[in-house]
Amino acid sequence: MKKITSKIFIDGGNPEETREAKKLLGFVDGQTTNPTLISQNPEVKKRLTAREKFTKEEAKLFYKKVVTEIAEITSGPISVEVFASKDTTAEEMIEEAKEMAGWVPNAYIKLPITQEGLKAAQEAVRYNLPINMTLCFSQEQAAAVYVATKGAEKPVFISPFVGRLDDQGEDGMSLVENILRFYKKGDGHVLPLTASIRNVDHLLAALKMFCPLITCPFRVIKEWEARDFILPDENFVYQRKDLQVIPYQEISLEKNWSEYNIYHSLTKIGVEKFTADWEAIIKE
Ligand code: E4P
Repeated sequence: MKKITSKIFIDGGNPEETREAKKLLGFVDGQTTNPTLISQNPEVKKRLTAREKFTKEEAKLFYKKVVTEIAEITSGPISVEVFASKDTTAEEMIEEAKEMAGWVPNAYIKLPITQEGLKAAQEAVRYNLPINMTLCFSQEQAAAVYVATKGAEKPVFISPFVGRLDDQGEDGMSLVENILRFYKKGDGHVLPLTASIRNVDHLLAALKMFCPLITCPFRVIKEWEARDFILPDENFVYQRKDLQVIPYQEISLEKNWSEYNIYHSLTKIGVEKFTADWEAIIKE
């Protein structure tokens, strides 16, 4: 592998890290954020330590401020996540998506891969809003995203969360591999974005697979720098250790999106955690 063909985004909620990453790498191709990452921003932490929380409006304005600052560092796609609890409707997601899409010209709207999130995705495509379908843990979810967003003019991103699968003993990188292979049957309108990266090996494996998009926490960028920005060569083999490989499934891309089994327990847990982390910074 001679050069990087993947776009590398920074996964975080602190513009300072994006700035530092750009200094280290010499470039930053984009950014991903989420409610948990924003709740971990140093300004938020300081405020919480002083026992001061945000009103809903203040929290939204703070998120917008962070995204605006990041947009000064990178002109690449910046993923911004709508508030989506288990009870949020597709209409509510779309309303917020439209608002967030106006924050910066390069905003990409993150929607969860749930029934309501997919309904919102269909609608977003109609409005030509760029979207990143998040909390992907299965190939069936990737199929549903593909079908629900067919005809999109802007590339649709899908984010398989490798680290969270690894955490439960499953090989997250094998899901990325499966989705890349699966999407070869399609028209290329959905781009996999390797997310939930925990270490340089995840990054190298995603590069070796030529995953079009990869998002990395600043911590991993620093670890990569410590390894002289090593790239995977033809002998590189990803060490799965004792993680269980997720088998490839033969799935049709011809069904209606609602016919796929999109349920995954980690998606449900992910939605709950994003909701809880966001609500923890909001005043009662
Ligand atoms: C990126 O889009 C995701 O929100 C992020 O990579 C999640 O990472 P985590 O599993 O480490 O929280």
